[in-house]
Order: sequence, then structure tokens, then C-alpha cells
Amino acid sequence: MRVQLKTLLLGALLGCSTALYAGTIAPGDVKIEGLAIADSLTGVAGDAAEGRKIFANRKQGNCLACHANSEMSEHLFHGGVGPSLDGAGARWQPEMLRTIVVNAKAVFTEETVMPGFYSLEVGENVREDLIGKTILTAQQVEDVVAYLATLK
Ligand code: HEC
Repeated sequence: MRVQLKTLLLGALLGCSTALYAGTIAPGDVKIEGLAIADSLTGVAGDAAEGRKIFANRKQGNCLACHANSEMSEHLFHGGVGPSLDGAGARWQPEMLRTIVVNAKAVFTEETVMPGFYSLEVGENVREDLIGKTILTAQQVEDVVAYLATLK
């Protein structure tokens, strides 16, 4: 069941990646130190308003599929697979939020159902045209992290 959920979500999500910006750290080159990714993946600050849209967008972050978020009460369906993200910006430093979004396995366990949004380690049976792509672009990750940091 877990595997099926993962496969479904990845199939739905992986379609919409990956424009690379100049100066962007490639997914394989991201350095995680002590669970933190210290610097912006693009060198550009995230845009929280943009991140809020990506969070809710069913074809991008689709975070609401698994997480409740009271700040988004205009959206009807919030999933309960992961914890509520109320207060996530108070629980985690931005450098840790960045790691969670880039590759949740690095912070939680290998078995987490949360996808790595900027990782190429997405498991087996990935559609051939999607190999080497990430779910979000580096700047979209930065935007989502900027948004999460506002959830205090
Ligand atoms: C398929 C379900 C799923 C999706 C989609 C998902 N997550 Fe998660 N997330 C989880 C689970 C489950 C956990 C808890 C860690 C664990 O047990 O694996 C988690 C944990 C987290 C945490 C830490 C929670 C806390 O407050 O301690 C954050 C932050 C987070 N997710 C952000 C996001 C964001 C942002 C997105 C969208 C870009 C997202 N998640 C998409 C399942 C998901």
C-alpha cells in the first residue's frame, strides 16, 4: 500500500520538472551537513507567496495531499498522512526545512512516504522519460521553504 501510494504520487508529480537556472546546485551536488542544507540552492531568496501556491498546487508540491495546514483553510481537503504543518516554521530552522523538502529521507527514515522533491533517489520503476528529473525545481524548493518558515 505504501509503495503504491508512493508510485502514484511520483507518477503524478514527476511530470512537471526541471528547469535549471544558472548558478543552481544540481540535485546530485546538494550537500547535507548535520541534516541542514545551509545555503539557498539557487543563491536567490525564496518567495513565500509563490511557495504558498506551490504547496497547494496538486501538480507541484501537493503538500496538502498529506499534510493539514490551518493557514490554508480556503482549501477543502487536507490529508492526514503526515503531521499538521501548523507551527512548522517554529519547530524547524529554514536550513532543516530545506533538507526536508529536498530529500525527506535524509531527515526521517528511508521508509518515509514523503517524496524527495529535489532528489534523484526516487526509487525503482520510474517512467523512463522522468529519470533524472526532480519534482520541484531548485527555486520552487526555495519558495516552499520561505513559505514554511512563515508557519509559526
Ligand atoms: C505522500 C505524503 C507526503 C507528501 C506529499 C508530503 N509530505 Fe511532508 N511529511 C510526510 C510524512 C509522513 C511526514 C512525517 C515524517 C515521517 O514519519 O516520515 C512528513 C513530514 C514533513 C515535515 C516535518 C513535519 C513537522 O512539523 O515535524 C515537513 C516540514 C513537511 N513534511 C513538509 C512537506 C512539504 C512542504 C510538502 C510539499 C512540498 C510535503 N511535506 C509533502 C508525508 C508527506
